[in-house]
Amino acid sequence: MDHFHLRDGAAYCEDVPLAAIAAAVGTPVYVYSTATMVRHAGVFRAALGDLPDPLVAYAVKANPNAAVLATLARQGLGADIVSGGEYARARAAGMAPERIVFSGVGKTEAEMAAALEGGLFQFNLESLDEAETLSRVAVSLGRSAPVAFRVNPDVAAGSHAKISTGAASDKFGIPVADAPAAYARAAALPGLAVQGVAVHIGSQLTSLAPLEAAFTRLGALLAELRGQGHGIGVADLGGGLGVPYDPAIPAPPGPAEYGAMVRRVAGGWGARLVFEPGRMIVGNAGVLLAAVIRVKPGPEHPFVIADAAMNDLMRPALYDAWHAIEAVRPGGERMTATVVGPVCESGDTFAVAREMDAVAAGDLLYFRTAGAYAAAMSNSYNSRPLTPEVLVDGDRWAVVRPRVGVEALIASDSLPDWLALP
Ligand code: LLP
Repeated sequence: MDHFHLRDGAAYCEDVPLAAIAAAVGTPVYVYSTATMVRHAGVFRAALGDLPDPLVAYAVKANPNAAVLATLARQGLGADIVSGGEYARARAAGMAPERIVFSGVGKTEAEMAAALEGGLFQFNLESLDEAETLSRVAVSLGRSAPVAFRVNPDVAAGSHAKISTGAASDKFGIPVADAPAAYARAAALPGLAVQGVAVHIGSQLTSLAPLEAAFTRLGALLAELRGQGHGIGVADLGGGLGVPYDPAIPAPPGPAEYGAMVRRVAGGWGARLVFEPGRMIVGNAGVLLAAVIRVKPGPEHPFVIADAAMNDLMRPALYDAWHAIEAVRPGGERMTATVVGPVCESGDTFAVAREMDAVAAGDLLYFRTAGAYAAAMSNSYNSRPLTPEVLVDGDRWAVVRPRVGVEALIASDSLPDWLALP
């Protein structure tokens, strides 16, 4: 459920007309709903029921805007981070250090040190080499690093290949079979405090079966490690729950079904459970609002050329992702069109032969489910300005990231002295 709806024939975010935001800020622009984020954080927490003190660590990579992080911090969420930059952003937005989990396959020594000095709940280690390095960094700082190993359960997530992470051929985690030796080695390292196990098998999962298979393997490993004398009190179950993009296909299992499965499989482990949801929290809390530059005839269907492009929303070009496209002021007529952006690549296509609201040059339209992995992955390809972001809360709204215009892009380059202009 989200808070983008039609009122008197025009699209609103909560109590704010999208057209008013477009008029004030220009297009393209991302618009986020506070109410949707708050609702999703609450629904996820409620789905976990009476699990003792679960830690919900929002995956910052999905949407790292400070206003988004501050909204979620106020809901009591922590952060799952994968870089020193995400650590700094989470802390700057008020995320409590004891709710921060550091994931990622390539943490540097500098990133490890920054997180150790600032404080965190746990590092999720992805190799023995990383464990050795972290121990060394921790000892040099006079600290002890709380750690889990992320294991690779070798399950097929059933998601898009580029966002599946739990198969043996993926770069993530350590093989389950290697875990006992890795834990024995880590326990002997002076800078580490072994406390948990972790798994994450992919994103936009539309079935609970692979998650259940991965959790079951994790539970067996947890018992085995305890049998070997490790005090494992934490199990991080990662993120990955899919969200509905296309209303024409059955919605993925919701948080309630996920929570029931988790409680059934892991409720008896006697471990504090950690969750790393990203998309589920913010996906449907955002839209990308754009204007139609012009409509150009095509061989079968017209091309609707929007002023948003693949640099603003990469998901269709990268993953063939489907995003709903709706007119801000639908007139009732429909058209079949191919929706594209102005970037000079044929991959700059949002939708092919899409049945949609009829639009013409100058009309506003919006791409739904653009709160996660959308602004976060935007760039300035084709020297297009970086898209601004707006946060709505009831009838108030604010720009939470301004448009980064071409002057700023030019100013961030510099000429070597031999090319200096006279
Ligand atoms: N934890 C870890 C270790 C992760 O790598 C991820 C996502 C998450 C949690 C959050 O997963 P979520 O709950 O959001 O599914 N750019 C892609 C998605 C990449 C996901 C990367 N890892 C997309 O636009 O679909």
